[in-house]
Amino acid sequence: MKRIALLTSGGDAPGMNAAIRAVVRTAIYKNISVFGVNRGYSGLIDGDVKQLLKPDVANIIHKGGTILKTARSEAFRTPEGRQKAAEFLDAFEIDGLVVIGGNGTYTGAKFLYEEHGVNVVGLPGTIDNDIFGTDFTIGFDTAINTAVEAVDKIRDTADSHSRLFFIEVMGRHSGYIALHTGIASGSSYIFLPEVDNSVEKFIELLKKSTRRNKLFNLVIVAEGNTNGGATELSKRCKEELGEIDIKTAIIGHLQRGGSPTASDRILSSKLGYYAINALLDGKTNVAIGSVNGEPSYTSFEDAITKKKSPQNFMIDMAEILAL
Ligand code: F6P
Repeated sequence: MKRIALLTSGGDAPGMNAAIRAVVRTAIYKNISVFGVNRGYSGLIDGDVKQLLKPDVANIIHKGGTILKTARSEAFRTPEGRQKAAEFLDAFEIDGLVVIGGNGTYTGAKFLYEEHGVNVVGLPGTIDNDIFGTDFTIGFDTAINTAVEAVDKIRDTADSHSRLFFIEVMGRHSGYIALHTGIASGSSYIFLPEVDNSVEKFIELLKKSTRRNKLFNLVIVAEGNTNGGATELSKRCKEELGEIDIKTAIIGHLQRGGSPTASDRILSSKLGYYAINALLDGKTNVAIGSVNGEPSYTSFEDAITKKKSPQNFMIDMAEILAL
């Protein structure tokens, strides 16, 4: 292994830069040259790369976003796009590829391996924490800390005005951000994609709590939950709870930005280091993770198809501690 390429793809996540730094510095330590690919798989198709040396990754461990930029490449979803990318890797004499991203990124990597025999390993970079084969993904801890900070601020207004707030957080298919934000911010209720939350049950609980004189409520809504987002839920509840002052807030892309937490920086550093060791050990077609503090290796197939869901006891606990 003499020359590797590195890219970030899909939604950016805080900690991606720390992972880039760790990959580059570990590789250079092992006498491997690293080529950074700009704009994810789009850059791989266009051959948009530049060599990364140690100084190129200095002063980035604390920065959000990704210095390599990212994209959700439509062209790479086609066999022709992947063929071009593989030809470029071949012509550029790249022996290994490290991709950092979520499920879509892993799917692309799996195709590159199966169709063109590219040695490729993946690191879980997504705020959603929905990747099978790792306890946590890069960016999740920062995202929930950002969300909790926002909910704490909304709490002041909710309390002062005795209002009910529906607060929408990210997670199209996954409730991890909502569940952890809800628990950490002491919310009254959490709408999750993994649970068949009924609006009727929520309204019942709310009525009971109002009788107990609970005057304000913070409800966390995962964007992908089956009852709709915060706006839809608020509309529905306004019809039934006319006397309550209901507001909504959508935290949105605030959750994807900002300086990574110490936890995310450490996770990213470990995963970047594991990635180079894995390639040197001859591992390929695998997603790298951290499970109980140890490196873990999961085939892309399993990482993509197996569903990782919040533990049931966490969901139960959230309910017990809430309304
Ligand atoms: O997968 C990460 C994520 O932030 C999801 O939580 C969210 O649904 C989606 O990306 C938004 O993607 P985009 O920024 O491309 O609209």
